[in-house]
Amino acid sequence: MTRAGMVCSGCGKQKPFTYEELTCECGSTFLVDYDLEYVRKTLTQQSIVNRATTMWRYRELLPVQSPQSIVSLGEGWTPLTPIDVSRIPLSIRKLWMKREELNPTGSFKSRGLSVAVSLLKERGIRRAAIASNGNAGTALAAYAGCAGIDSIVFVPEDCPPLIIRECQRYGAHTFRVKGLIQHAGQWVESYKHIFDWTSVSTLREPGRVEGKKTLGFELAEQLGWRLPTVIIYPTGGGSGIIGMWKAFKELRELGFIQGPMPRFVSVQEIGCAPLVRALGKQVDSAEAASPTGMRVPHPPDIVLLLRILKETEGTAVAVSRGEIEEARRMLGNRGISASPEGAATWAGLLRLNEEGWFGQDDQVVLFNTAHALPYETLAGTSNIPLLTNLHDLINTLRK
Ligand SMILES: Cc1ncc(COP(=O)(O)O)c(C=O)c1O
Repeated sequence: MTRAGMVCSGCGKQKPFTYEELTCECGSTFLVDYDLEYVRKTLTQQSIVNRATTMWRYRELLPVQSPQSIVSLGEGWTPLTPIDVSRIPLSIRKLWMKREELNPTGSFKSRGLSVAVSLLKERGIRRAAIASNGNAGTALAAYAGCAGIDSIVFVPEDCPPLIIRECQRYGAHTFRVKGLIQHAGQWVESYKHIFDWTSVSTLREPGRVEGKKTLGFELAEQLGWRLPTVIIYPTGGGSGIIGMWKAFKELRELGFIQGPMPRFVSVQEIGCAPLVRALGKQVDSAEAASPTGMRVPHPPDIVLLLRILKETEGTAVAVSRGEIEEARRMLGNRGISASPEGAATWAGLLRLNEEGWFGQDDQVVLFNTAHALPYETLAGTSNIPLLTNLHDLINTLRK
């Protein structure tokens, strides 16, 4: 068995593998520990090459034991698209976008929920609930539906309507709640025993961090078992950062990669930037943050997130709604339909570039964590020209 147990990310305490209760008495989070000697027997750089192009190609480093429990829709192995930096005055060497919008449920949340739901299936759980800003709810709904598990999704009242519709389309009981994601979380925790559901909210179970870890494995493999020097990630609860950091540590211990960790940069939106504040940076918060996955005022393990940012000599940066909108336009011009979160990574890149934070040799990876479409409002198209004659067309194109 490759999954050896759990280890606390803060004090190092160990305990047997557990499906719940991940908070250690020291306040930090228990993460899954693997028997890497055992992993090494079947997982080599060579053995991976011909495996299926999904995130399950790294199955020895995922905590699901029996292949029959795996619930997969083909998630992961998303393209790492190079972006031409000569068109913009950036003082870095290389830039890529990891195209997470191409996952089966339209966001990188497919990864974590594929593993989390597989673990529920392994345990014979019949009902699961989640507090989500939207995309994790969609992913739970899709994977739980496939596994015949009842799903209950709680989202903030202003969650984008199309994301809510998508949760319903996949068959989840979907509820809007007053307030933000932490209020949704209260519904999950308070009524757990009445409705007998298992929580798959951030850091309540081990599968989601493990699934997000595959982002890190893929980056390394797609770059020829090398790492970029900087990772810019739109951060909410932070399980993606924790996952990638863990991935790089495991790959190092396996001898797959060498050298320093990338510098992790968290991007948040002005109005809800707890990491930026915690690093002692001024954030002008007159503007309320928009309803995106980055809007998490109280990340469940902010201590671990700050440690990762500091240890890797990274940073956190808050960008405005206007900068995000401009970034969406710029990415659109490069063929990428970006969610606000994905665009925020581009906005963060431009901001840090302006501040002279990068070195000339930096190789930077951004993440388009979700597709743009579900964030669109249903406002209609009356402002788009309705052509009735050739003159209008000529006049428009001449402008
Ligand atoms: C599209 C998108 N990007 C980023 C995030 C934040 O991810 P994490 O919870 O790993 O910080 C979320 C979370 O809801 C999201 O939906």
